[in-house]
Amino acid sequence: MASVLGIETSCDETGIAIYDGFRGLRASFLHTQVDMHAKYGGVVPELASRDHVTHIVPLIHSALAKAQMSLQDLSAIAYTEGPGLLGALLVGSCVGQSLAFALNIPAVGVHHMEGHLLAPFLEDDKPSYPFLALLVSGGHTLLVHVRALGVYEVLGESVDDAAGEAFDKTATLLNLPYPGGPKLAALAALGHPEAYVLPKPLCDRPGLNFSFSGLKTAVLQLTRTLNMTEDTVKADVAASFQKAVVDTLFIKCERALKQTGLTQLVVAGGVSANHALRARLKSLGVQLYFPRPEFCTDNGAMIAYAGWLRFKNGERHSNVIHPRARWPLASLTPPAFL
Ligand code: KG4
Ligand code: ZN
Repeated sequence: MASVLGIETSCDETGIAIYDGFRGLRASFLHTQVDMHAKYGGVVPELASRDHVTHIVPLIHSALAKAQMSLQDLSAIAYTEGPGLLGALLVGSCVGQSLAFALNIPAVGVHHMEGHLLAPFLEDDKPSYPFLALLVSGGHTLLVHVRALGVYEVLGESVDDAAGEAFDKTATLLNLPYPGGPKLAALAALGHPEAYVLPKPLCDRPGLNFSFSGLKTAVLQLTRTLNMTEDTVKADVAASFQKAVVDTLFIKCERALKQTGLTQLVVAGGVSANHALRARLKSLGVQLYFPRPEFCTDNGAMIAYAGWLRFKNGERHSNVIHPRARWPLASLTPPAFL
């Protein structure tokens, strides 16, 4: 049964994992660069690339040791080919392609968002095709009609900031340390979500697109009228902001489910770790599928799994190193055997 090494280096996490078709996930290691970027208040691309270079090979050794395997036991190498930071992607792409070349096995370039989309398949309770997917990360907010592996119709997307980006930027406005999203969510749990009414952009008109940049501006204006040194006020603003995002995502999911008649909803990407979002989506009354919390944010396991699935279904890539900063999910096609 095929064993695939997965390499994720699209942003600020070096993720390495091994997925085996018979035994499932054999190893998953993550090195996060959060502390390194924290003093700059955001990801510094050049530092991210250099740090991937430092950690990628030791993590591959750790994953092989955990899985009690050698390089010769691998059937293919999967790596994130895009979208993401070009220099960061280049590290994973070069290591992935070089390893595959040296071992004379196939390399599979994986779309990062397809990795997120497939992450719930690593759990015992798996969705079945077709389903609706809400992908909410730091770079993307997408509603996707998933007909099969590689057959994706994007029904809606953000016209400006992604949901995670809105969390991060609003966290900065509230003087929360980087990375802001999870810290804002933790603060929101202490506040009243009804304290302030914030806009739910694009919810009052038809369509499935999202817009979150106006919400961030509304928070900025609101904070200018409040005493933000009061901890309770800050928590109330965080809770009200989170409610506006969660309500918006809920409304669009409800609309998309009605429009498509789909009865399963997959929610993935960093923001899918958000407890308020998870709780609210339960009231949609459809079957919900989430990755486990550590596989909501970037990780190697989702890339190993997506690569294994495509490899198993006949996908073979040439030995070309071609990282892509931008890569529309809808341009993907199914692997050869599907
Ligand atoms: O999927 P991911 O790790 O990276 C990208 O592909 O972008 O998502 C990271 C994003 C960040 O914007 C982060 O603030 C957000 O996910 N995030 C959260 C939570 N955990 C991570 N946002 C809200 N609530 C959370 N609990
Ligand atoms: Zn991601």
